[in-house]
Amino acid sequence: MTVHEMQREILKIKAEKDICILAHSYQSREITEIADFTGDSYSLSVQAKSAKQSTVLMCGVRFMAETVKILSPQKTVLLANPSAGCPMAEQMDKELIEGVKRQYPDYTVVAYINTTAELKTICDVCVTSSSAVSIVRKLPGENILFIPDCNLGDYVAKQVPEKNIKLLRGGCPIHARVTAADVEAAKTAHPRAKLLVHPECRPEVLKSADFVGSTSAIEKYARESEDSEFIIGTEISIAHHLSYDSPDKRFYPLSKDLICPNMKATSLVDVYRAVSGTGGELIDLDAETVCKARRCIDKMIELG
Ligand code: 13P
Ligand code: SF4
Repeated sequence: MTVHEMQREILKIKAEKDICILAHSYQSREITEIADFTGDSYSLSVQAKSAKQSTVLMCGVRFMAETVKILSPQKTVLLANPSAGCPMAEQMDKELIEGVKRQYPDYTVVAYINTTAELKTICDVCVTSSSAVSIVRKLPGENILFIPDCNLGDYVAKQVPEKNIKLLRGGCPIHARVTAADVEAAKTAHPRAKLLVHPECRPEVLKSADFVGSTSAIEKYARESEDSEFIIGTEISIAHHLSYDSPDKRFYPLSKDLICPNMKATSLVDVYRAVSGTGGELIDLDAETVCKARRCIDKMIELG
């Protein structure tokens, strides 16, 4: 089967079986072309809540599929490739954070959405990279424990200096690889290019950025900008999508190492197998986890 034949077959089966396909912006073009919706973590959560179909297939990583299940427990939720986890989401578990909470009892626990469903059950509010600053600013308490990404947390702390933000040493192993030396090399190679960076990158990288934002915000900025050259400081697929969508502009990855193997794990064949019932993983969460984890995701959507 060619890629086009497989895409046509997926569209046919998904219509017959009433399946909604959600794809994170880091997915490959052949997947985003057949998705009902593509976007950043925040917009995927909003779509998960409003999707009309009885089944949702997530093309992304495990915490994203869990978020869909938490928001729509009555739906059948599938993760296209069961091996697609997010290493950052696995870094901190419930027991660790319960211990930290005992040390800081009066702190509001703000969890980046890149956390497990189990950990979300003991947090106060979730945030995504696009909503973290505005949500933290709106929280009534002054003391915040921000988990797990210390780079995003440091960025939020600088934007919201009125809050006392405590960070732990977690983060995205892919974005955290990029250094100030990579920025210098990219800027030397492309002196006229604007630097657009995801807040999961280190503070030394964010310091030199012309724009800091989520995957969707970076895409929007580049599409709407009058500039014509951009260095893209997030997973390499965003530079690929932008080059395709805006052929009159130039997009350069900030580093060749900005490749997330977990986001890349899902193939069109996985999507085909998941919709046709021979692959994917059914996401199953117990009712108590859904109920407790939902509170902090609902709060994020309410404040976001
Ligand atoms: P976004 O919130 O920008 O979609 O980022 C999700 C993610 O996993 C980035 O690495
Ligand atoms: Fe997780 Fe980083 Fe991959 Fe995003 S890029 S899914 S945060 S490992």
